[in-house]
Amino acid sequence: MKIIIINGPNLNLLGKRENEIYGDESFNEFFTRIQKKYAQVDLSHYQSNVEGELIDKLQEVGYTYDGIILNAAAYTHTSVGIGDTVKAISTPVIEVHISNTFAREEYRHSSFIAPNAHGIILGFGLQSYELGIQSFLTN
Ligand code: DQA
Repeated sequence: MKIIIINGPNLNLLGKRENEIYGDESFNEFFTRIQKKYAQVDLSHYQSNVEGELIDKLQEVGYTYDGIILNAAAYTHTSVGIGDTVKAISTPVIEVHISNTFAREEYRHSSFIAPNAHGIILGFGLQSYELGIQSFLTN
């Protein structure tokens, strides 16, 4: 099973960014841990702060991979382009957020990904990503 985690802007700062919201662990530490835990999965990770690069990566993997776990971060709430790509590709996309975006500012309550997402997981910290992997493994 081939699954990729795609992270959007500022998620490269996990561990040193608003720790009270996003926790103390860097994404690379977390990723190493889950790669070992889900050794049966061909798990990869891509991060970009650039909207078009995220679209390029979604197009690249979106017809061959078994699953995409997408945290588009701030672009979730602004990007018609990423929303259109999620609609265009055939690989199922699970939208993930570390924080409970509905408990935060109103501008975080909308998502251009959600209408075409296979499912949405949010508010469980970094565990949200892991729950995404588990959902692909059990479906
Ligand atoms: C986030 C929530 C977004 O609103 C925010 O812009 C992020 C991270 C999350 O994982 O909780 O950068 O996607």
